[in-house]
Amino acid sequence: MSSSAFACLVKIYSFFPLLLILYLIKISHGWLPDTSTKLINGLSKIPSISFKGNTTFPDHFTVLYQDDNTILFGGRNRIYNLSVFDFSERKDSTIYWPSSEAHHQICTLKGKTEDDCQNYIRMLFYTAPGKMLICGTNSYKPYCRIMQQKNEKVIVEKEMEGIGLCPYDPEDNSTAVYSNGHLFSATVADFSGTDPLIYRQPLRTELSDLRQLNAPNFVSSLTYGDYIYFFFRETAVEYMNCGKVIYSRVARVCKHDKGGPHQSRDRWTTFLKARLNCSMPGEYPFYFDEIQSTSEVVDGKYGGDSNVKIIYSALTTPNNAIGGSAICIFQMEDIQSVFEGPFKYQEGINSNWLPVPDNKVPTPRPGQCVQDSRVLANNNVNFIKTHPLMEKTVPSLNGRPLLIRVSLNYRFTAVTVDPQVRTISDETFDVIYVGTDDGKVLKLVNIPSSNSTKAFVISENEVFPKGTPIKQLKIAPGYGKVVVVTKKEVKLVTLNPCASIGRCSDCIELRDPHCAWDSLKGVCVSVDAVTSFRYLIQDVRGGNISRCRIQPTDKSIPKSEYETKLIDTNSLEEDKQSPDPLLRLDGESTDCNEVDGEKVTGCAAQSKLTLYTSEYLHIIVAVASLAGLFVGFLCGYLVSRRFHVHTQYPNPPFIEQHNHLDRLTVNQNSFLAPRTKTVNLDVLNVSTDSLPPKKDNLGSLKNLNITNEGTLQKIKKTYI
Ligand SMILES: *[C@@H]1O[C@H](CO)[C@@H](O)[C@H](O)[C@H]1NC(C)=O
Ligand SMILES: *[C@@H]1O[C@H](CO)[C@@H](O)[C@H](O)[C@H]1NC(C)=O
Ligand SMILES: *[C@@H]1O[C@H](CO)[C@@H](O)[C@H](O)[C@H]1NC(C)=O
Ligand SMILES: *[C@@H]1O[C@H](CO)[C@@H](O)[C@H](O)[C@H]1NC(C)=O
Repeated sequence: MSSSAFACLVKIYSFFPLLLILYLIKISHGWLPDTSTKLINGLSKIPSISFKGNTTFPDHFTVLYQDDNTILFGGRNRIYNLSVFDFSERKDSTIYWPSSEAHHQICTLKGKTEDDCQNYIRMLFYTAPGKMLICGTNSYKPYCRIMQQKNEKVIVEKEMEGIGLCPYDPEDNSTAVYSNGHLFSATVADFSGTDPLIYRQPLRTELSDLRQLNAPNFVSSLTYGDYIYFFFRETAVEYMNCGKVIYSRVARVCKHDKGGPHQSRDRWTTFLKARLNCSMPGEYPFYFDEIQSTSEVVDGKYGGDSNVKIIYSALTTPNNAIGGSAICIFQMEDIQSVFEGPFKYQEGINSNWLPVPDNKVPTPRPGQCVQDSRVLANNNVNFIKTHPLMEKTVPSLNGRPLLIRVSLNYRFTAVTVDPQVRTISDETFDVIYVGTDDGKVLKLVNIPSSNSTKAFVISENEVFPKGTPIKQLKIAPGYGKVVVVTKKEVKLVTLNPCASIGRCSDCIELRDPHCAWDSLKGVCVSVDAVTSFRYLIQDVRGGNISRCRIQPTDKSIPKSEYETKLIDTNSLEEDKQSPDPLLRLDGESTDCNEVDGEKVTGCAAQSKLTLYTSEYLHIIVAVASLAGLFVGFLCGYLVSRRFHVHTQYPNPPFIEQHNHLDRLTVNQNSFLAPRTKTVNLDVLNVSTDSLPPKKDNLGSLKNLNITNEGTLQKIKKTYI
């Protein structure tokens, strides 16, 4: 059994370099245009206000709530109340809620650290005006409180257990949404974090049914129409080749699901999920399979259609693969139509996953909201329990990502949108902010046309020191204002570069909908700061600087705010070909002359201007792929030498089997480790005190074994 699995691994590794090269050649052209960063702002260049909460211990900050003038952060034993305009702390509105001494002691006895055994507030929802539901980790024993605001004071009305609502671990990836008087949560319901669930009292997903949830990391949730949608990543149960792979999902449940008949009255009758397809199209699509963050639903005008409802999401490649990140747009309409499409089904543990034929789908169609789910027929409820996965994947808008970044230094971790920012000519564009695990925030603008998605990177900003992952981003009032959340610190930053730009052409080419060139005063201004658009020049869609030339006084003001400037080759070539001598000089040393009798101080900064041409990028890509080739080959060779005896299969038919690059990024560890999941009885004991009832513990564990073996048998079958 294990030798065949080794054979599988060997094949993967020996084919990796070839596919890598094929792949890089194929897509390098798709990747290059996205390197058009205009501004790179260093840490000290960004106006920001910082809030550190408890300065001695990490607060594990999370944004609990935000309105027109207040933002509430959940922290260590506290809810901090800050003004969203200037981050001033309203100290007398801080809600203090530590764990009780008893809970704290039990937590320490269970072997958790002092930092773990605190009450990190993870959620807050207004259930009525002045009435709040708040939940915290409460020293690994989640608790919730209903609080009532009464003349400036907040009093506790009720306290109850929060298992299944709130996570145990402050760093856990959980999400919840409040709708129609109910809390819908996606979290874990046990101390050890092995019982994930989507829960609304009393309904939950099946316990340890890997078809429903398989080691998920929940990312976000939202209410839309009659349904609640959850975005998460999880181990793909339908993936049948070597190793394990993570896919991104969207799942949904009906808001007024009432549970099934009889023994399934505490189970969802509407839980369905589908894979999200964020990929570079091609013969071998390249997938960004691990969702990290989503925006809210944005309602806007894209490529001629108005009222299009979309969400932006940040997805990455697996940790052990090439460091790729993407922003993909998913349309709510596409998500809905995938849930109307065929279901996916696996007949036996060794069979392929196939679409369920229409005539085998019961009526009413499983997964739809129905009047009263408790009167559904048993076969209807059983169908959805065994067929939670949809056959079709949710395509991204226009079939490709909005932005791709390949970087060894960072991955995307968070995304948020300032929707439909109005330009001076009354067009609207989404301004998108993307956080990385390396303390950066990218500002982009989505410039849609009828059948393509194209983002233009406005700036790349070092908001936190290198190595600080950004966990959340929120839009604050004011152009370019963003709340950036990390574990120990939150910042209100202003990513509005207009005032630091000295030249008309730079101001226009930046394509920032927030900025326009004031031709009267000769300055780049923030559009929200002016009262008349009369003398303003702006072209977000085209970036056409020709109107700049008309101006007699194109003053040059030092660009001291720049550290480096990346000019994409396109605009450089444009400049060179331009018949206008003024423009041709633009990139050169005119700035060092005296302007208006003032010696311009920007010369030094100007001469540091770095040009990255596409040749340079090609060289980087080539060097990287050669290095990859070498390492891959070496690994493949060594492993194949080592296990040669086990792996003599004439002409193995593995090209068809492994034609996706993402399948090649097998985690070697997961393979070398024993395949059978070890079951710790202590863990099971601890988890029995969790809220929702647990049935068929043993049955599903047995199932787990079979599934694992099943995968291996499948592999064996493939190669003999
Ligand atoms: C930080 O937390 C510790 C223990 O939780 C507490 O004693 C201390 O007062 C807090 N400090 C601040 C500045 O809130
Ligand atoms: C936060 O502070 C604002 C302004 O003082 C106040 O109106 C609001 O009720 C406070 N929120 C909470 C949850 O205490
Ligand atoms: C939550 O997500 C982050 C970012 O993707 C990841 O680093 C972390 O390990 C996840 N937490 C858990 C408990 O899996
Ligand atoms: C994902 O989308 C791409 C193109 O947009 C398509 O070629 C590919 O087959 C899709 N993959 C899946 C698994 O649906």
